[in-house]
Amino acid sequence: MIFLNDKKQFELTLKAIKKSAVKNSLIIAEDGASTLISEEKTIYLVFDEVKGCVYKKISKTLAAFLKGNKRELNIDVDSFLAIDDKKGDAIFDAVVETAMFENHTMISYKEKPAPKLNFNLICKADKTKRFEETAIKMEFVNFTRDLQDTPPNIATSVVIADKIAAKAKEIKGLKVTVLNKKQIEDLKMGLLLSVNAGSYVEPRVVVLEYVGDPKKEKIGLVGKGITFDSGGYSLKPSNFMEGMKFDMSGASIMLSSVMALAKAQAKTNVMAIGLFTDNRIGGHATLVESVITSMNGKTVEITNTDAEGRLVLADGITYAVREAKVDKIIDAATLTGAIVIALGKWQTGVFSTNDEWYKEVEQAAHAGHEPIWRQPLIEEHLKAMQCSPVADLANSEPGRNAGSSTAAAFLDSFAEGKPFVHLDIAGTADDGKRGTGVMIKTIFELLNK
Ligand code: BES
Ligand code: ZN
Ligand code: ZN
Repeated sequence: MIFLNDKKQFELTLKAIKKSAVKNSLIIAEDGASTLISEEKTIYLVFDEVKGCVYKKISKTLAAFLKGNKRELNIDVDSFLAIDDKKGDAIFDAVVETAMFENHTMISYKEKPAPKLNFNLICKADKTKRFEETAIKMEFVNFTRDLQDTPPNIATSVVIADKIAAKAKEIKGLKVTVLNKKQIEDLKMGLLLSVNAGSYVEPRVVVLEYVGDPKKEKIGLVGKGITFDSGGYSLKPSNFMEGMKFDMSGASIMLSSVMALAKAQAKTNVMAIGLFTDNRIGGHATLVESVITSMNGKTVEITNTDAEGRLVLADGITYAVREAKVDKIIDAATLTGAIVIALGKWQTGVFSTNDEWYKEVEQAAHAGHEPIWRQPLIEEHLKAMQCSPVADLANSEPGRNAGSSTAAAFLDSFAEGKPFVHLDIAGTADDGKRGTGVMIKTIFELLNK
């Protein structure tokens, strides 16, 4: 089986080889080293004995090679599969996903963008179905990365909503709804509107619904879509403002996940809602100590305008529960700086009071090869958010204690008892000033059953 990107095979082939199998003394027998043997028209990429996660090992080594590669290549997938014959699926995923991730033409506004390199995957093992699903997942990972990377002066709420709706309309079986400011006002999404108050750009809410199996329970995916987070009146210091174009990652990821599931015709029942606005200062921007009524009637004292993600998400969760009538909920959000301190860029923080729903997400993350780490979520975290003398909730805990958990508790209190999982992707949504499309593969694995 050959997956050709181009009509022809390329001259040069990349082969993986175990260090212990290297016979040719010209091949550099060091882990991760690559050697071109021109008579064989082959580049050999050497792998030492794999200890630990084979997916991680292969994807890291192949990514490092491809980042420095300047030639069009055939990638001999079977040679990678031979590294560990018991881990075929994980190795196949690592090679195909990494090749598609690294070869994506990245958003660039340079006069001379880097030239596009092509590749072919050559594979004798029969993995056609797996390849097709991986290709769909990676199409939407790369679509999300482009949205993430687009500068905030270009990717406003209106522009992103239009781009997502246009892409979604290409896919069969998807119901696409884009709500404008008037419709958002009619729904009484007071918290989303309070974040948008300082902006001259209208907010947008994008809802995608896909019913692949009406008998299945309905899953609601909610995503934070802050197209730029200045902090509002609780203004961020300049060095913390950089990177805040990525604050729309959660919404893009959730909406892309539904598009991928619909394109793969998964047997699932799912809706996603993305809440888009920027968070600015200005004459109309929300003041600290304002009290705002949410879509479900709870009041919130805005003790910090920089804690805006939980506000838009709360109205999104209410929409999922009350309008879309979902049975279970997951949200994804670049929600807290505290999770970046706790987990860095290595794991997504996951919060839930429902062990069964958490376990399902954990298994899916494992299948999608995306590292997660569970974080605490207890009653006391919600109590800490009920500290306002004038409103049901405050939007930030005054002492910044357990900042990621108190944020999760705030969200959970809007789920009205439905099983709820919160993904804090603040550390994992971007890497090296580029979007990653993290957690799309996990959501796909969770619902593609
Ligand atoms: N978008 C930020 C969180 C963030 C920080 C994402 C760093 C990516 C990298 C979020 O809106 C925020 O500002 N959260 C505050 C909450 C606090 C004011 C309670 C934070 O974490 O400092
Ligand atoms: Zn913020
Ligand atoms: Zn934010």
